[in-house]
Amino acid sequence: MSDAALQYAEANRKRFVAELKEILSIPSISTLPEHRPDMQRAARWLTDRLNDMGIDAETIGEGRPLVYGEWLKAEGAPTILLYGHYDVQPIDPLDEWKTPPFEPDVRDGNIYARGAADDKGQVMTLIDAAESFLRTSGALPVNLRFLIEGEEECGGELVSAYVRDHGDRLRADVAEVADTGLFAPGIPTLETGLRGIAYVEVEARGASHDLHSGLYGGVAPNPFNALAHIISRLKDPNGKITIPGFYDDVHMPPQDVLDSWKQLPFDPNEMLENEIGASELVGEPGFTALEQMWARPTLDVHGIRGGFTGEGAKTVIPATATAKISMRLVPDQKVREVYDRFREYVLSLKQPGIELDVRFLHGDDPVVVPADSRFIEAAETALQETFGRPTVLGRSGGSMPIVGAFKRDLGLETVLMGWGLPDDNLHAPNEKFSLSNFYNGINATIRFWNVLGQRR
Ligand code: BES
Ligand code: MN
Ligand code: MN
Repeated sequence: MSDAALQYAEANRKRFVAELKEILSIPSISTLPEHRPDMQRAARWLTDRLNDMGIDAETIGEGRPLVYGEWLKAEGAPTILLYGHYDVQPIDPLDEWKTPPFEPDVRDGNIYARGAADDKGQVMTLIDAAESFLRTSGALPVNLRFLIEGEEECGGELVSAYVRDHGDRLRADVAEVADTGLFAPGIPTLETGLRGIAYVEVEARGASHDLHSGLYGGVAPNPFNALAHIISRLKDPNGKITIPGFYDDVHMPPQDVLDSWKQLPFDPNEMLENEIGASELVGEPGFTALEQMWARPTLDVHGIRGGFTGEGAKTVIPATATAKISMRLVPDQKVREVYDRFREYVLSLKQPGIELDVRFLHGDDPVVVPADSRFIEAAETALQETFGRPTVLGRSGGSMPIVGAFKRDLGLETVLMGWGLPDDNLHAPNEKFSLSNFYNGINATIRFWNVLGQRR
């Protein structure tokens, strides 16, 4: 069954790329309200695509709808809940793109477009793998439920509410998420953990309106200075977070896991040069770069809004300033507790004449996936056959809210098998997806389902 599917996938590569270009041309930026119609268009495109190949699919909800589809005719075989997202990040700064973000361009073996790797290209590996079975043998070796959302990048709640309320409809044996990447080109990878996140906003307010900084400077409270004071006290010069109790629940992975990370072919200086482009790496002393990214928490400021940011000079004491800050969390930190600690500490740093508002925007707990399940084993078999080398079990510093929800509400473990590369420029200009990974992703997915289907 899988040989025919693999041959079909190879013979249809050109069309698969053409269809990937179609979905990549829809600017489905979930966080920007003006793209609402594009969200609906992308959801419809996927729903039609699934229905056309024989998977019962529907578009659920309005605004940024879910796409749900199912094929459940493999009696006695396991059921896999497949997940991906069709929404994408904003495209700024636009002038740094070599080709326009929603005019997909194939060059040097990659397809360039916003969403190419995160996550439309990966969603299409799932769809194209399923089509390859259905159009050859008319059947799949496993039962599939597709759940494709449009709010992943903006912390929306539609999908988590749906998962919470539809446990029956989503019944499955395991979840499979195609939204991660390879550790390095050619090295098949399964993620065994993701960091959580607590995303917050701190607003400082001083005067009731903007003031002339000459006339009132010295006596009027300045919310930017106040925010700077607060931010400067959140971390020490070594990068250690100074919120009291912040590390209380941080637990490093077992020594054998840390040892296995040290064996991975990873050179921090190469990452610095090829992916980061700064003069040096920073961080807590005593931890390797992989440990810092996979097993240590973070605190990063993403932006500070307000005041005068235009060209030239304006002498103003702004009335308000707002900082956006996130903390990445690791086992066994809990979003709620971390947020409470953050809030209490920030409020304790309040300056005279300044009012502070601390707001929680969204958050999720960290997740770990057991590395010894039969599903991971099946994935390793499929990956070995596809890439011709053993699988790396790593973690990722990124976050994926859905994985915790699958565990919590459906009792499901998740196989995190993805096809991005470290230099794919996720969330940045010139996002790309390697076409050979696209093809390998389809093939490995075909094999994975085949292995699972054989083990009844
Ligand atoms: N797919 C990424 C996360 C990711 C990328 C995990 C590479 C592992 C490897 C996802 O789309 C993402 O960007 N998540 C956000 C989550 C947030 C908006 C809740 C993140 O990590 O910032
Ligand atoms: Mn993603
Ligand atoms: Mn993303």
